Amino acid sequence: MKIKSICCIGAGYVGGPTMSVIAQKNPDIKVTVVDIDTQRIADWNDKDLSNLPVYEPGLDEVVAQARGRNLFFSNEIDVAIENSEMIFISVNTPTKTFGSGKGMAADLKYVELCARQIAKVAVSDKIVVEKSTLPVKTAESIQNILDNTGNGVNFQILSNPEFLAEGTAMRDLAVPDRVLIGGDLTTEKGKEAIQALVDIYSSWVPKENILTTNVWSSELSKLTANAFLAQRVSSINSLSELCEATGANVDEVAKAIGMDSRIGPKFLQVSVGFGGSCFQKDILNLVYIAKSLGLNEVAEYWHQVILMNKHQRERFANNIIKTLFSTVSGKTIAFLGWAFKKDTNDTRESAAIYVADLLMDEQAIIKVYDPKVTATQMQSDLNYLKSRSEEENSNFLKTQNDPYNAIEGAHAIAVLTEWDEFKTYDWQRIYNSMQKPAFVFDGRNILNQNHLEEIGFIYNGIGFK
Ligand code: UDX
Ligand code: UDX
Repeated sequence: MKIKSICCIGAGYVGGPTMSVIAQKNPDIKVTVVDIDTQRIADWNDKDLSNLPVYEPGLDEVVAQARGRNLFFSNEIDVAIENSEMIFISVNTPTKTFGSGKGMAADLKYVELCARQIAKVAVSDKIVVEKSTLPVKTAESIQNILDNTGNGVNFQILSNPEFLAEGTAMRDLAVPDRVLIGGDLTTEKGKEAIQALVDIYSSWVPKENILTTNVWSSELSKLTANAFLAQRVSSINSLSELCEATGANVDEVAKAIGMDSRIGPKFLQVSVGFGGSCFQKDILNLVYIAKSLGLNEVAEYWHQVILMNKHQRERFANNIIKTLFSTVSGKTIAFLGWAFKKDTNDTRESAAIYVADLLMDEQAIIKVYDPKVTATQMQSDLNYLKSRSEEENSNFLKTQNDPYNAIEGAHAIAVLTEWDEFKTYDWQRIYNSMQKPAFVFDGRNILNQNHLEEIGFIYNGIGFK
């Protein structure tokens, strides 16, 4: 079976870049990305590539190459489903905010809606691919919906989790460590469907890097890959507190343990806490699944990774308050960075939101500069927490388009994102423009401590006393 047309429901951070690369590498396959959000689709179709809704280094070039040739963005979901042999579901699966599993389980409403829509529209056989991160056994539910509400056509369900990290998505897609495809290995039709997807990836990924498994292994691998990565960050962050109490240097410890080839150096960078759309959500999901199965020790073990992350954010905010003579009321704290990491405009679960919220509880004024995040996004992130009125949020938090303006007159600087440009600033000029004593709290540990201290800053970053 040779696939000629694909569609993807969900033109977000995952669907957009992934489909762009599939289209780039398979010029003979027509790829249509659809979304219910008309503005988002308009942005994907914008002639000016700097207006793409997702900021990802290198994405504009790939879109320029494939868009209009074999890559299309559209709001016509039904037409795209009908005309495609393979349909990817890449809609968001947020943590439930209500009812059973509130605050833990994934809300599968959008995935289910997609399945129902596919069932309603499809009049020929389809391969349905789960791209969204889903709880184990979701494929079974999708199959059930498709088989019982469909028009009697055959549906094969595959799980093909995405491992791309934002900011490096294009590289992660071009040279993935592995591509994982889960499907029904027990039937001929299942094997055919798996092979059809293997063929698409084989256009650019070496065969030995494409793994095929049963559906549940694939679904579980995605959740647990993220859980393992997040666990490393919480582990090193827990050590940062211990280092501060003992005089050890957490960077030196990270280097020493990372050089053990069994441990490895990645994901040992101390921080003000991990963010992003996946880590917390996927671990909560894992905890929920374990609890539902009565595996309480397993659930508690993973839950601790989340609790440590929350603790690290609170510890960072409290350190700022304590150092500024135990009051920040009416004081200005300049934030460098709002995104959850560098090279992205994504702010989901960013530590900056929570640190700002805690400082605003103490009536601090926050002035933020981020190279890619808009003022509207920052306000909506804060409003989502519902800690205070929208009016109060906009009074306490001001977005600045220039870093020097954000910092001028401030009592302290907090680095919340590790953007490279922060290292290149004129730090002498910055020091001169601030209230004295001037403090830097480097939540990402990227600035040169000695240099700042020479200038006169009091440096009080994560992992230092
Ligand atoms: C993805 C995955 O789908 C998620 O499960 C994973 O954990 C993180 O990555 P992401 O691409 O980051 O999500 O989400 P987002 O950028 O919010 O994009 C989802 C898109 O789906 C949105 O543009 C939304 O409008 C669209 N959508 C949602 C639909 O088109 N139909 C729906 O019914 C729901
Ligand atoms: C993650 C996974 O890496 C990716 O495979 C999966 O598909 C989606 O989730 P992403 O959330 O984009 O990707 O970013 P990632 O680079 O993993 O960083 C997550 C958070 O951890 C960021 O806030 C980052 O700053 C933080 N982090 C990462 C640290 O604090 N220290 C580290 O050493 C590494």
